[in-house]
Amino acid sequence: MAAEKSESWDIELLSCPVCYERLMRKGPPGLNLQAIYRSVFECKKCHKSYSSKDIYLDLTVTAGLKKYVEVKPAGTEFFRRPFVSFIYERGWRQYFGGGFPGPDEEFKMAQEYFKPAEGGVLVDVSCGSGLFARKFANSGTYSGVVALDFSESMLRQCYGFMTRDPTTLLAANLALVRADVSRLPFSSASVDAVHAGAALHCWPSPSNAVAEITRILRSGGIFVGTTFLRSSPSTPWIFKPIREQSFVMFSAQKP
Ligand SMILES: C[S@@+](CC[C@H](N)C(=O)[O-])C[C@H]1O[C@@H](n2cnc3c(N)ncnc32)[C@H](O)[C@@H]1O
Repeated sequence: MAAEKSESWDIELLSCPVCYERLMRKGPPGLNLQAIYRSVFECKKCHKSYSSKDIYLDLTVTAGLKKYVEVKPAGTEFFRRPFVSFIYERGWRQYFGGGFPGPDEEFKMAQEYFKPAEGGVLVDVSCGSGLFARKFANSGTYSGVVALDFSESMLRQCYGFMTRDPTTLLAANLALVRADVSRLPFSSASVDAVHAGAALHCWPSPSNAVAEITRILRSGGIFVGTTFLRSSPSTPWIFKPIREQSFVMFSAQKP
């Protein structure tokens, strides 16, 4: 029986958030929601199993724990509120100040930077309600897209937007994963591209997050992000208010 079971488990791109061992998967292959919903993921090392019974696949360290509650810093907790997630893409995101050129233009700019990663797997880290993840999936540029966020309500909003476009998006290789950017559930050097739109300034520890992103990117993989510039003690006071509000897009390639 045990031998039979191990034969029917496939090795996945996804890793256990506790020990980073590759997750074994039992179920249909593919990153689309149907396939993931019908699959069980299990870590053979720490014997924890993960499933997506709540729309998204929960790959946080605390997945499945019912009684333990951990409060994250404000930049993370704020976006877990259902009301914030609801209004985010229904007006707020489109009218960001600070010179953000708007989702269509930002998407075009990101796609340019991602050219070397075409055909690979892209992870949209802190995807919110999936504004960009859906565009990446719809573009057909990537073999798979993972929309990843810590906020349960943002991921539910993303699913809602996906159901408006059932023929393409629900069938596309677009997975919804709940995870913490400081503990990314992917094997080292397994991902071709990472996108993080307007997110860096919300992360509890940008340096830990960037270290994690570096770990999961394969050699030659690309990281593209946008954020607001912050002023520093050396910024002349006259420029401080302007600098605090400035849009910046950056890109880096892993050597
Ligand atoms: C301002 S929204 C950006 C959403 C989208 N990427 C965009 O371009 O509009 C910031 C996102 O970061 C997510 N976030 C905050 N802390 C996080 C963490 N520790 N791990 C993963 N995502 C986090 C929030 O849930 C929120 O969806």
